[in-house]
Amino acid sequence: MFEMGKFEVLDHPLIQHKLTIIRNKNCGTREFREVVNEIAELMVYEVCRDMPLEDVKVETPVATAVEKRLTGKKVVVVPILRAGLGMVDGVLELLPAAKVGHIGMYRDEETLQPHEYFVKMPDHLDKREMIIVDPMLATGGSAIAAVDALKKRGAKSIRFVCLVAAPEGVKALRDAHPDIDVYAAALDDHLNENGYIVPGLGDAGDRLFGTK
Ligand code: PRP
Ligand code: URA
Repeated sequence: MFEMGKFEVLDHPLIQHKLTIIRNKNCGTREFREVVNEIAELMVYEVCRDMPLEDVKVETPVATAVEKRLTGKKVVVVPILRAGLGMVDGVLELLPAAKVGHIGMYRDEETLQPHEYFVKMPDHLDKREMIIVDPMLATGGSAIAAVDALKKRGAKSIRFVCLVAAPEGVKALRDAHPDIDVYAAALDDHLNENGYIVPGLGDAGDRLFGTK
């Protein structure tokens, strides 16, 4: 049976506090990088809340018990290059055994259309839990194309995690892929005429990597 994915804003006070730090235009590259990873780590804790568990027998020093562990379904973290790379280490802090797949995508500055330039995934995506990471969900074009790329390769369980989302992007992504779960640290006001999120945090890739 088809189940509608959810959209959640993960507005824990620590996440809100850290997001304010990186929104500030005077936050430098080093701090920006650190804090993006910290937010990603805090978010993934909630993103994994409904991950499937299975029973397992365990011998404690005192008794034998039947307890829970994550099922064999292995997680793949999928950053959308470049800016998604900034969130990977934070996610891996909590999911150290996860595999990492990469999707290279850039947004044409004039048309705002996404262009895919690289995809490298582990095998058997149909048996894995996919977590796509990208700090920005603006028009939604890049996220939609990334989900398309994963589904084309067999992925069935997909979560999309961003720091800042525009209402336009959330709607576009959920209309195109109603089955996936979408998480943001903040839902901002709108997109400006250049396709930037307002108030947003500017160009996430440039701020992470010190480019212009
Ligand atoms: C940014 C961002 C997203 C995309 C969001 O990447 O990291 O991938 O734009 O915009 P959209 O929702 O309108 O598609 P960008 O294309 O600037 O590439 P970069 O990460 O290499 O800087
Ligand atoms: N990409 C960014 O990096 N920032 C935005 O505000 C929109 C798209």
